[in-house]
Amino acid sequence: MTRKILVTSALPYANGAIHLGHLVEYIQTDIWVRFQKMRGNTCHYVCADDTHGTPIMLRAEKEGITPEQLIARVWQEHHDDFAAFHVAFDNYGSTNSNETKEFAQGIYRTLKAEDLIEVRSIEQFYDPVKNLFLPDRFIKGECPKCHAKDQYGDNCEVCGAAYAPTELIAPYSAVSGAKPELRSSDHYFFKLSDQRCQAFLRQWTKSGSLQPEAANKMQEWLGAEGESKLTDWDISRDAPYFGFEIPDAPGKYFYVWLDAPVGYMGSFKQLCAKQGIAFDDYWGPDSDAELYHFIGKDILYFHALFWPAMLRHAGYRTPTKLFAHGFLTVNGAKMSKSRGTFITAASYLKRLNPEWLRYYYAAKLNGSMEDIDLSLDDFIAKVNSDLIGKYVNIASRCAGFIGKRFAGKLGSVDATATAEFETTYKAGEIALSFENRDYGRALREIMRLADVANLYIAANKPWEMAKQEGRETDLHTVCSTALTLFRDLTLYLKPVLPKLAEQVEAFLNIPALAWTDDWSPLAAGHAINEYQHLMTRIEPKQVDAMVEENRQSLEPTPTPAPTRHAEHQQHEATTDEVKTATPDYITIDDFAKVDLRIARIISANHVEGADKLLRLELDIGEAKPRQVFAGIKSAYDPATLVGRMTVMVTNLAPRKMKFGLSEGMVLAASGDAPGLFILSPDAGAQPGMKVK
Ligand code: MSP
Ligand code: ZN
Repeated sequence: MTRKILVTSALPYANGAIHLGHLVEYIQTDIWVRFQKMRGNTCHYVCADDTHGTPIMLRAEKEGITPEQLIARVWQEHHDDFAAFHVAFDNYGSTNSNETKEFAQGIYRTLKAEDLIEVRSIEQFYDPVKNLFLPDRFIKGECPKCHAKDQYGDNCEVCGAAYAPTELIAPYSAVSGAKPELRSSDHYFFKLSDQRCQAFLRQWTKSGSLQPEAANKMQEWLGAEGESKLTDWDISRDAPYFGFEIPDAPGKYFYVWLDAPVGYMGSFKQLCAKQGIAFDDYWGPDSDAELYHFIGKDILYFHALFWPAMLRHAGYRTPTKLFAHGFLTVNGAKMSKSRGTFITAASYLKRLNPEWLRYYYAAKLNGSMEDIDLSLDDFIAKVNSDLIGKYVNIASRCAGFIGKRFAGKLGSVDATATAEFETTYKAGEIALSFENRDYGRALREIMRLADVANLYIAANKPWEMAKQEGRETDLHTVCSTALTLFRDLTLYLKPVLPKLAEQVEAFLNIPALAWTDDWSPLAAGHAINEYQHLMTRIEPKQVDAMVEENRQSLEPTPTPAPTRHAEHQQHEATTDEVKTATPDYITIDDFAKVDLRIARIISANHVEGADKLLRLELDIGEAKPRQVFAGIKSAYDPATLVGRMTVMVTNLAPRKMKFGLSEGMVLAASGDAPGLFILSPDAGAQPGMKVK
């Protein structure tokens, strides 16, 4: 039976570029959607830009344009970045649309009629120079707990204390620098504390719509049975504000997070108009369609509490499931502008193939809320060894013979060699892993099959058969069999590598691969096309250049910057918002991965053509000394180094340089002041001793 599925990714804020952190989510979702489509299910994928709020308004003002102009420009940028990464939305809209506005106002009206809206006067900081109420993140001052200066209005980045902006000592507006005044104003609240909401949310938490980790979070937010921990949600902001006006409330606007998820409906409504889909089939209270929201763990609160409660009480269906993912770290740490690891989609695309990243993320994703790490060295190694070394290689070693020796026509296929592939296909485990969003598991199985295919080729050595007389038929069979295996691998990889799969379909001259029920080998006599090179290896220097381009000196940020505590009430993106993962801590196990050893420098020499490097030979107690190219020429005369003891990292992946292989790294200290200093152990340390 084909399923009816509607899938969304979170709507990116329209005030910044798409970066590699965002892409974890869009790539994860896109793979799932493509998988569902390949299975023959009806699956719609919609998204939109999240365009409202104070930060967008202020940013447009700073750029001297209207918010509408700003969001139109950013929409195009986002749209192009997603397309380049092959993220194939069926509709990409904007929350600043008529559709979203009508749904938002309609939902509000129903909630009001249900007596779930309340107006209350609250006191808030007001910027008397800019004439606007300030979101918490736009107020700074001295931390009331540790007295650190220049802390944000919601929490202190030095001591971690959370507080209300009114508790700050000597507060000032981050927009104008003015001293904010407390002013009172009427705000509109969604009564989340109402018994009906609480009861519904308790039941919803138990309904299996949440991953276990998310359900636990919900329990925490809801409190024990009988306890009433939820507070009402402030859904209004005063003018000036870029957003939708609240019906019958002049000068009051919906807080950006009220209409943001409504944007899912607005964007879908546009798709319905384009394709003649009945909106209510998917959103009506009796809908039998499945509805999934892919989100980051930071916005769980909005999607697990406010959103289902709003939908439920406004007469719509609620989501089937929320799929929350963790945060991206790069090289084990949160993305950082100073380290060059805050990498934008556009700068990645300048040099690197988007499918490399899709593959790497897929290999790391497992459907849980754990953070995922993009280790740049591992990225290079994994893509090169799996995609080029294991997968593409199968075709590149066998296809030529079919063209040259058999006029491009396939021969018969060896059923013993394809048996395991046929069984695997029928067992459906790989499909199940994709369905469960455990792409890592799927890819491990796919690479295991690639190993099987490579073993088959290695055992039969077509390149030798080609030179032997009377082995034409064998050669034909081996190559045709290998291409059938390659076809299977391509089918499995297609949700992850859609572009590559298309190239393979063209090369094999077959219809678009779909995950249908039958399995059969490529037929004897079938004509294939000439093999064209499918994918190149990643060169480390491409990655280095990308990081270099993204490295920025640390400048004070003019507007509020990132926070991982950005909480549900005042969670609005700020100009330079970098959503961050867990702090920079590593575990002892992480540290233990680095194999540090005492080394004796047995030779040190200049390297012709290199202005920074010395070539060192290091004794670390191994049979053969290690060669390391160290960037310490500016600080050391090679002669003075010979015989010295120092510390080296021995388990860095060897790196091929223009001058030779570098088999490790020597540690040296440097800072802002000039100078570079290699380390020395205390007397008595011997080559090969472990540093730990
Ligand atoms: N506009 C809101 C979402 C509204 S949904 C109705 C928002 N926008 S965002 O641009 O900040 O983030 C968009 C999505 O990207 C979120 O799901 C967020 O979790 C995800 N990510 C943003 N940075 C990320 C990482 N560094 N790592 C992984 N995902 C990240 O939130
Ligand atoms: Zn503090």
